[in-house]
Amino acid sequence: RSYTIAVLPGDGIGLEVMPPALRCLEAAAKRFGFNLEFRHFPWASCTYYHEHATMLPKDWKKDLQACDAIFFGAVGDPATVPDHISLWGSLLLFRREFDQYINLRPCRLMPGVTSPLANREGKPIDFITVRENTEGEYSSIGGRIFEGTDRETVIQNTVFTRIGVDRVVRYAFELARSRPAKRLTSATKSNGISITMPYWDERVEAIAKEYPDVKVEKYHIDILCAHFVQRPHTFDVVVGSNLFGDILSDLGPACTGTIGIAPSANLNPTAKRDDPNQEWLPSLFEPVHGSAPDIAGKGIANPVGMIWAGQMMLEHLGEKEAASAMLLAIENVLKEAKNAHDRGESNILTPDMHGNGTTEELGGEIEMEIGRV
Ligand code: NAI
Ligand code: MG
Repeated sequence: RSYTIAVLPGDGIGLEVMPPALRCLEAAAKRFGFNLEFRHFPWASCTYYHEHATMLPKDWKKDLQACDAIFFGAVGDPATVPDHISLWGSLLLFRREFDQYINLRPCRLMPGVTSPLANREGKPIDFITVRENTEGEYSSIGGRIFEGTDRETVIQNTVFTRIGVDRVVRYAFELARSRPAKRLTSATKSNGISITMPYWDERVEAIAKEYPDVKVEKYHIDILCAHFVQRPHTFDVVVGSNLFGDILSDLGPACTGTIGIAPSANLNPTAKRDDPNQEWLPSLFEPVHGSAPDIAGKGIANPVGMIWAGQMMLEHLGEKEAASAMLLAIENVLKEAKNAHDRGESNILTPDMHGNGTTEELGGEIEMEIGRV
C-alpha cells in the first residue's frame, strides 16, 4: 500500500509541529508496512502571500487532487495579513472546493493532561463534535448598504440546504450508532433564530426516525456551552451547524486541558479516488489550533494536535492498525511524562500542559513509542 500526502505546513507553529508529525507518520508506515510519499508545498501560507500577493498558485487544485489526502499545519500571520484573506484564501477555500462537508473533532481527556474542570465523578471525557463545514452561517451572501452614513446596514445570510443539512446529520447518526453510548446531541437555537434553526431541528427529527437505536437530544447553543463546561463527560456525538460546530469544537478541547492536542478532520466521506465518473475530492487533516504567533519560533508548541491529525488521516486511509498504534503511543507518552511531572522531575510535556518540554522532545518520544507499542 502506498499513499501520496500533500504537506502544507503554513505559518507560525505550523512549521514547527509539521516535522515531528511527519516523522511519527513515517514511523507508523515503517512499522505497519505501507508507504507514504510526502509532497511538500510552500503555498497556503502568508510567507507565500508576501512574495506572490496571493495565497495559492494557479495549479493548486491539480496539485492537491494528485494526492490521497492533505496534511495541513496552520495558516495566519495576523500582524501582516488580515485573517479573512489568509483563511479564505486557503483552508476555507479547500473545504468548499473539495466539498469537505464533515468537520470531525474528537475531544478526549488524555491521560497526561490536566483538565481545568476537575473531573468530579472520575468519568472520562470522550466525545466527538461533527460540524457542518460548507454552508450555514459561513455563507458569502450579503452585503453593506448606506456605507459611512447613519443608516449603514450590514447583512449576511445563513444558508441551509436539504442536502447540506441531511448529509451532516446522517453522518452524525451513523457515527453515534457505531459508538457504545449511541447518543447524539444536536446544537440548535430555534428559540431565537426562528427560520433556519427550526428547519435544522426538523431535519434532525426526521432523520432520527431512521435511527431508533440512537438516543437523541437537542439543546440551545448557549446552555449547551454551559453543559460542556459543567458535565463534559456526558456527551458522545455532538452535531452542529457551521458556526455552532466551530464554537463547540474549540470549547470541547479547552475543557480537556489545551487546544494544543486537538485534531480535526475535514472529510468528504463519499469521494472515491479511482472512480472515472466523479471528480476526486481529497480530505484534509489539521490540528484545531492556529499559527499561534505568540509562541511561534520558541520551539515549545504542542505537537500532539498535529500528530493526532496524522492519526486520523491514517484511519481515513484505511490503515486502522497503524492509527490505533499512534493513538496508543500518544497516550503512553503523555501518561509517562505526567508521572514524571507529578514526581517533580523534569519532563517532556510542553508548557501548555504545564511541563518544560519542547516540540521536538515530545514529538520525538511519540515517534519512538510508535515503534514500540
Ligand atoms: P491560535 O490557536 O493560533 O492560538 C490561541 C492560543 O492557544 C495562543 O495563546 C496559542 O499560543 C495557544 N496555542 C495554540 N496552539 C498551541 C499549541 N500547539 N501548543 C501550545 N499552545 C498553543 O489562535 P489565534 O491566536 O486566535 O489565531 C492566530 C492565527 O492563527 C490567526 O491568524 C488565525 O486566523 C489563525 N488560525 C488559523 C487556523 C487554521 O489554520 N486552521 C485556526 C485558528 C486560527
Ligand atoms: Mg475554530
